[in-house]
Amino acid sequence: MGVRLIVVGAQWGDEGKGKVVDLLAETFDVVARYQGGHNAGHTVRVNGVERVFHLLPSAILHPGKICVLGNGMVINPKAFNDEIGEINCDGRLFVSDRAHLIMPWHKELERARSCYGKDGIGTTQRGIGPAYVSKSARTGYRICDVAGQFGDLWARLRKDLQEANEELLDHNVGPLPGTCLNDFHGEVQQLKPFVADTSLLINKAIRKGKSVLFEGAQGTMLDIDHGTYPYVTSSNTAAGGACTGIGVAPTLITGTIGVVKAYTTRVGGGPFPTELDDNIGAYLQKRGREVGASTGRTRRCGWFDAVVVRQAIMLNNFNALALTKLDVLDDLPGIKVCVGYLLDGSESCQIPARTEDLARCQPVWQTVPGWLTSTRGITHFSKLPYQAQKYIRLIEELCDVPVKIVSTGPERNETIVRRNVEPFGWMDDIQVGKVAVA
Ligand code: GDP
Ligand code: IMO
Ligand code: MG
Repeated sequence: MGVRLIVVGAQWGDEGKGKVVDLLAETFDVVARYQGGHNAGHTVRVNGVERVFHLLPSAILHPGKICVLGNGMVINPKAFNDEIGEINCDGRLFVSDRAHLIMPWHKELERARSCYGKDGIGTTQRGIGPAYVSKSARTGYRICDVAGQFGDLWARLRKDLQEANEELLDHNVGPLPGTCLNDFHGEVQQLKPFVADTSLLINKAIRKGKSVLFEGAQGTMLDIDHGTYPYVTSSNTAAGGACTGIGVAPTLITGTIGVVKAYTTRVGGGPFPTELDDNIGAYLQKRGREVGASTGRTRRCGWFDAVVVRQAIMLNNFNALALTKLDVLDDLPGIKVCVGYLLDGSESCQIPARTEDLARCQPVWQTVPGWLTSTRGITHFSKLPYQAQKYIRLIEELCDVPVKIVSTGPERNETIVRRNVEPFGWMDDIQVGKVAVA
């Protein structure tokens, strides 16, 4: 049996999932996205060439890999066609017939509604939330609905467009022209050759012994159920979402790997207890090139928050962590880690349910010395400066999960893979493509 591994972001997104998926993809037969849409921006860098994937799995450039966009995703057909561009993915890229479509009005409605409500979430404005609203309200369009002749569908589309335009007018936003439906029709025609029953496809592959990598988007703290609601995205980003978002049974999952940044970032609104509004925050932002891969927005930066990562570990039961961007901390004389929260005079190690309470949490800090030397591109754990090794061991202690992969730069080969930490069983069988083993 091949391994079925879920890769999940453990913070608020942008942890480096694209890099980790690209590294691991070498030994997997199938790579599948299970939720979200083109709100994601997953960066892969190989030999100086950088690619950012929004809808396509980050393994799409690996020749011969089967890539799947699962039923739990919301698909904007134009974004899909644009992203494929010149990539040769014939016969190995599949989009679920049960995935929902982001309709032409979803983006406009999101703009209109958030201007009106001043919700402060700071979404990516891709129409993700309204598309999931339509899905839950059972008024959405699934890909299978538009995969045949449009026929009677035109009448439904015109009616829904009219209703959307009425709501837009209520928000003082100009109506969408009827031609948007013709454009939509054209985009859907291009998408059709990729449509498949992907749940069936993946379950058949698993039964044949193939290995499957599930690529999470966003991060656990942006999960609609478990994140910092309402400052979240509209899907289940945590590992459980992979089962529903693909259509595989939980008992078929071999394990999970959590991607964590050596510090923390967040884009958009919402509480962020370890946020740094000072020159260290500005340093992390600049040195880490913390600019949104999808929207170009500046990411908020702060210290590593062990309470957040422990919460993600509980929700995803990570077998191992991939720690990214260690090199970004290279020039700091002292590094802080949040080991707990103080709320109303009591110490706590839990994320409170009420977002207002999380916003009032004061971090309890542990300060450790920095290493003040470059770790960029180091590929062996033993070559890391002593204080950097200690920092990684501190994270392991606080999280009680081994750090299996350490990323020391954006390039695929700027990576340490540790095989000499604890027995990993099935995980040691995973080959990490073209990377030195410590
Ligand atoms: P994702 O959404 O989780 O895939 O992450 P993003 O691609 O949005 O953001 C991660 C950014 O950090 C990208 O620009 C990566 O190229 C970069 N990156 C990943 N790992 C490292 C690392 O170890 N060091 C540095 N300096 N950059 C990294
Ligand atoms: P990747 O996969 C970081 C954030 C937005 C906003 C909230 C809701 O690259 O890690 P949405 O458009 O989804 O309704 O926005 O979620 N957000 C992300 N933040 N990384 C992402 O994706 C994100 N996708 C959405 O900034 O706060
Ligand atoms: Mg990203």
